[in-house]
Amino acid sequence: MPSHTESLERLGLRSPVIQAPMAGGGDTAALVAAVNEAGGLGFVGAAYLTPAQIAERARDIRDRTALPFGINLFAPTPAPGPAPMMAEAMARVADFHAELGLPEAEEPAYSGDAFDRQMAALLDSGAAFYSVTFGLPPADSVAAAKARGIRVLGTATTVAEAVALERVGVDAVIAQGGEAGGHRGSFMGDAWEDRGANLVGTMALVPQVADAVGVPVIASGGIMDGRGIAAALALGATAVQMGTVFLTTEEAGIPEAHKAAILAAREDQTRITRAFSGRPARGIVNRFMEAVEDPDAPDAVLPFPLQNTLTRPLRTVAGKAGRAEFLSLWAGQGLGLARRRPAGELVADLLRGTEAVRRRLAG
Ligand SMILES: Cc1cc2nc3c(=O)[nH]c(=O)nc-3n(C[C@H](O)[C@H](O)[C@H](O)COP(=O)(O)O)c2cc1C
Repeated sequence: MPSHTESLERLGLRSPVIQAPMAGGGDTAALVAAVNEAGGLGFVGAAYLTPAQIAERARDIRDRTALPFGINLFAPTPAPGPAPMMAEAMARVADFHAELGLPEAEEPAYSGDAFDRQMAALLDSGAAFYSVTFGLPPADSVAAAKARGIRVLGTATTVAEAVALERVGVDAVIAQGGEAGGHRGSFMGDAWEDRGANLVGTMALVPQVADAVGVPVIASGGIMDGRGIAAALALGATAVQMGTVFLTTEEAGIPEAHKAAILAAREDQTRITRAFSGRPARGIVNRFMEAVEDPDAPDAVLPFPLQNTLTRPLRTVAGKAGRAEFLSLWAGQGLGLARRRPAGELVADLLRGTEAVRRRLAG
């Protein structure tokens, strides 16, 4: 078995700290650069970016840091199935539109999948890492990335998904536990079964994935400090991918109301919901989530990405107006450990904290 340092080197990482890609604006170029310069690996969640925006963000990062960074995409998403309760779904946002002074919601339309064009931009971006969530990276994207020396990572929420990712040739598997903030990366089985009650936690998932695959494992979900990082390494992970802890840094691009909600919330105040995008994701429970997610009318939430398109105008205006009750307040269960601080200081602390725990455990 390779040593931890060998596994890191094999993956091209300088330390075990990876800042999670966070599509939707959290992962600014300033955040990615600050993480890199402090010894971590910064990532851009580019799923909602156009090819031109991907190129621009990459340029902005390269202007700030010469160190490697990553870009993440959603795997190609099939066209959404039927939406039998379109009228009801629209009715559920109507009152909120009125409350925020927005015109009536428009019926969301599917505009096709952007993966191929986004992937072309990624290949030209100068990124050193390419990661995927919501599915397997297409074989041609894996081959194209590898031909350019770009390392390929895939997200798994079960052992079966991890094995499937290894088969398509990823360089490492990100094992995303149920504690994780944001969208579930699940792509086999039904991640919404029992409204998320069957999610596997990071503590249970990481060693089972590490036993099942030969490639390095990156633990993700609920990891907030050096204790969590050292624990993940003890479970067999080579590195960790952390999202929530970076959301309250000065460089994170989310609305101030979202940062304040994370800093005020308790560990038992998040839930898995489809209310904002149509795909299961973990966020802090708020008024919108409770009003829209109705166990008696599951089809009143549209399939992804239609629900995402439907709720976007409302979320955009709510962000500017500081109305947290209408925002997708993505956050993981470790949120009580989040602090407001510069990202570089955070990464330095994470690295110091991990070493301190390792020394203490070594006696
Ligand atoms: C605001 C937010 C946005 C996210 N967006 C993405 C994304 O675009 N792509 C992705 O692979 N993971 C995304 N994630 C999930 C992270 O990669 C990671 O699994 C998660 O943040 C880990 O849990 P933690 O938040 O408890 O650290 C997102 C997470 C958050 C909190």
